[in-house]
Amino acid sequence: MINKKKLWSKKESHNPKNRIEEIKQEPVPKHIAIIMDGNGRWAKKRALPRMAGHHEGMKTVRKVTRLVSNLGVQALTLYAFSTENWKRPKVEVDFLMKLPEEFLGTFLPELIEENVRVEMMGDREQIPAHTLYAVEKAMKETAGNDGLVLNFALNYGSRSEIMAGVKNIIRDAKSGILSEDDLSEELFSRYLMTRHLPDPDLLIRTSGEIRLSNFMLWQLAYTEFWFTDVLWPDFTEADLLEAVEAFQRRTRRFGGLTDK
Ligand code: FPP
Repeated sequence: MINKKKLWSKKESHNPKNRIEEIKQEPVPKHIAIIMDGNGRWAKKRALPRMAGHHEGMKTVRKVTRLVSNLGVQALTLYAFSTENWKRPKVEVDFLMKLPEEFLGTFLPELIEENVRVEMMGDREQIPAHTLYAVEKAMKETAGNDGLVLNFALNYGSRSEIMAGVKNIIRDAKSGILSEDDLSEELFSRYLMTRHLPDPDLLIRTSGEIRLSNFMLWQLAYTEFWFTDVLWPDFTEADLLEAVEAFQRRTRRFGGLTDK
């Protein structure tokens, strides 16, 4: 359903500040999840190495984090490295594993100033020590912040997250902490890496790919999806605002009926 308030006059739509203020007058997503795709193609179009695309993508992470924080969103989960990404050439994997350090090395003071709390979800075991050190240091230094949760999905795969949850439930059932009657969707959610976060309200995937790629399969059950052809390094604040406006125009029914 089109919300007339969201049909901008030309003047307003060209002023990002007005646009942000208008958006904030209606409920914004509590949690936005993003599959940041298209770094490699961005680089290829410019005859640059793939790494240049990832580096440019890191700058988009900064822009998007700042805007999402300004909008009053509670959590932003970014798919930075999947459990499948180890299949890439070592030089690319090594580069990707250095990006969190570079990002946090450069921007952590600003994130602290903006009251952002850094978190990560994923299998820590395979992640190189230097990457983990940088992320855990940022987590510690921002642990007291109560603004936006910036949650990096790093060496994350949804199926293995679900399997680990199932195993832990069986363990707790065997030790008598849980019984079959305790099992519920709510309880299962507490065995996932997102136990402390609301489910995403909005999923964005860039670069024209229309798939989930093993990302938050349980948590995205009722999420609104927004796909765009824009490649992640080219993704702008205006694109993010467009996605949030589209979200605000949608009527979420959660399987029920609208009251109209
Ligand atoms: C997918 O694009 C992107 C990734 C696998 C990595 C995403 C990482 C970043 C955007 C930078 C992360 C920044 C921080 C701060 C951790 P692709 O390489 O699959 O692109 P392609 O499909 O065009 O080849």
